[in-house]
Amino acid sequence: MPEQAHPAVSVRAVDDASVRAIDDAGFRAAMSTLVAPVTVVTARDALGAPFGFTASAVVSLSLDPPLLLVCADRKAGSHDLLVAATHFCVNVMGADGTDLALRFGSHRADKFRDVEIEDSETGTPSLPVALSRIFCAVDGLRDGGDHTIVLGRVLSSRQATGEPLAWWNRGFQRLVRLT
Ligand SMILES: Cc1cc2nc3c(=O)[nH]c(=O)nc-3n(C[C@H](O)[C@H](O)[C@H](O)COP(=O)(O)O)c2cc1C
Repeated sequence: MPEQAHPAVSVRAVDDASVRAIDDAGFRAAMSTLVAPVTVVTARDALGAPFGFTASAVVSLSLDPPLLLVCADRKAGSHDLLVAATHFCVNVMGADGTDLALRFGSHRADKFRDVEIEDSETGTPSLPVALSRIFCAVDGLRDGGDHTIVLGRVLSSRQATGEPLAWWNRGFQRLVRLT
């Protein structure tokens, strides 16, 4: 068969044996080159208590239906609570949100101390201080190695104006608009 000038996309299987797996440090270094959002994912446990954790592994997934995904570390205390939850909120932090991001990125028990919470119609707690709040219903769970991929069907969102906070090169960053 003559070779096509512009062949269709071909998928080539990677021969695992020929590829040396990257080590943890190499993986972390590679991932540190990705710019990620800084969010705090909040929800309520079975007894109605709010919980939350900082998450940068939050990605827009689908327009129809409107889906996003959050990757939750199986080792985190919030993991089992989130996979059991029916709803959650992705609170996207602004440039002034580093303190809260560090607080919710810790294991401390009093994360919500002196933090204003606002409930949605579904009773989902959110942080009004956030730059935007994206309210979701849990739409499914997928295996993601040592993380669980939590699919969220986006129900509503609230946005404020302000500068976003980014996570890059293992630190908090501000963004500069170029176009
Ligand atoms: C900037 C930043 C981004 C993070 N991103 C994630 C993430 O995407 N997924 C995750 O499971 N943990 C992430 N973490 C770690 C959790 O926030 C951290 O493990 C936290 O202590 C979990 O709280 P918990 O043990 O109360 O659940 C991140 C932490 C920081 C500071």
